[in-house]
Amino acid sequence: MMDHCPKSSLANISVLSLVVVGILYLYVSSNYPSLGYGCAIPVANSDVRPYDAPPPPADELGRALQMAAKADRTVILTVVNEAYTEQDVNSDKTMLDLFVDSFWLGDGTRHLLDRLLVVAVDRTAYRRCRFRRLNCYRLETEGEGRDEKLYMSEGFVRMMWRRTQFLGEVLRKGYNFIFTDTDVMWLRNPFPWLSNNVTVDLQISTDKFNGDPWSERNPINTGFYFVRSNNRTTSLFDAWYGRKANSTGKKEQDVLIDLMHEGLFQRLGLRVRFLDTDYFSGFCRDSKDFDRVATVHSNCCRSIKAKVFDLSVVLRDWKRYKWRRGQRKVAGGRNGTGSYNRWTPHVGCWRAWRTTPQQKQ
Ligand SMILES: *[C@@H]1O[C@H](CO)[C@@H](O)[C@H](O)[C@H]1NC(C)=O
Ligand SMILES: *[C@@H]1O[C@H](CO)[C@@H](O)[C@H](O)[C@H]1NC(C)=O
Ligand SMILES: *[C@@H]1O[C@H](CO)[C@@H](O)[C@H](O)[C@H]1NC(C)=O
Ligand SMILES: *[C@@H]1O[C@H](CO)[C@@H](O)[C@H](O)[C@H]1NC(C)=O
Repeated sequence: MMDHCPKSSLANISVLSLVVVGILYLYVSSNYPSLGYGCAIPVANSDVRPYDAPPPPADELGRALQMAAKADRTVILTVVNEAYTEQDVNSDKTMLDLFVDSFWLGDGTRHLLDRLLVVAVDRTAYRRCRFRRLNCYRLETEGEGRDEKLYMSEGFVRMMWRRTQFLGEVLRKGYNFIFTDTDVMWLRNPFPWLSNNVTVDLQISTDKFNGDPWSERNPINTGFYFVRSNNRTTSLFDAWYGRKANSTGKKEQDVLIDLMHEGLFQRLGLRVRFLDTDYFSGFCRDSKDFDRVATVHSNCCRSIKAKVFDLSVVLRDWKRYKWRRGQRKVAGGRNGTGSYNRWTPHVGCWRAWRTTPQQKQ
């Protein structure tokens, strides 16, 4: 099919600069509107710099956000470091690969990849991101790369705070975002399950949902949340980051929990909705229902290797569910087989609790 596309033959003329190709492409496609998608540029993004090109200058954040956000100024952000992008000798995939795969396998999630901005905090992560042809942003961190991988090491904590500061910056630029850890599998488009009422400032996942979406007694998990950009939320992130100097030995999640228990949400007038684990689930508590689950986070697990292992199994469970669902449709839409669907136990993570030293959680 590609033979008939004027674009692909143009692309082979390597002497032309990329700019000229781009201009010609625009010209050609405007003259052959009926060619449609069959002749799309064979890379994911319009940005065609080689994956190992040096990162763009630091003031590129606005541009990167603009590229990922649609008219509603909402982006999906994940932060990766070397540990999530390097491949263990015994594993087929990196965490970032699994994450991206989930957008392919999920229901209604493929187009969301366009909204995703991958924030890379070191060089390896940035190169890997570029290689995958994702929207990548290079976040410079001070003294980076030394011990970021080790859970609660000095480097890890520094990187964590840099992340909080960065996310506050994104809010201040007027972008709403879903922050997702890279070890969250996106099995369904989460937006239909998130409140679209603009008065809800923050919607955050929980380790175990207590049944009341407005109860601050829910154990929050900062691995997945949707936050709207406004005065209240920028103040929240300022307060959160403001604790940096006074939070030795604490994860930023624990600091947010402290702030919540100190009554900061009320003081700021924040409306915070806590998310049900049947939809926004994790290894701490599995979703009970494959027909509703939107995300699966490998929380309650402390080794990256174990997470990659068990999340691969999650994707396999999901593929089997989809296959069975397809069979059901073929059989005439008979119901009642939903209970066949079970998550395989997260044995990699259970084992890791017993055997490995502390690593990134
Ligand atoms: C949003 O929530 C507020 C507060 O509960 C409510 O008064 C308002 O009617 C809601 N708006 C919409 C569009 O649902
Ligand atoms: C809060 O937002 C309102 C309008 O959205 C704006 O007029 C006001 O200046 C903001 N306040 C602060 C402290 O940023
Ligand atoms: C640090 O936080 C504790 C309470 O968590 C508080 O008592 C103390 O005054 C704070 N120190 C500083 C320097 O803010
Ligand atoms: C089939 O299952 C779906 C999802 O659980 C449910 O919404 C629907 O009502 C069921 N249909 C029948 C005919 O039982």
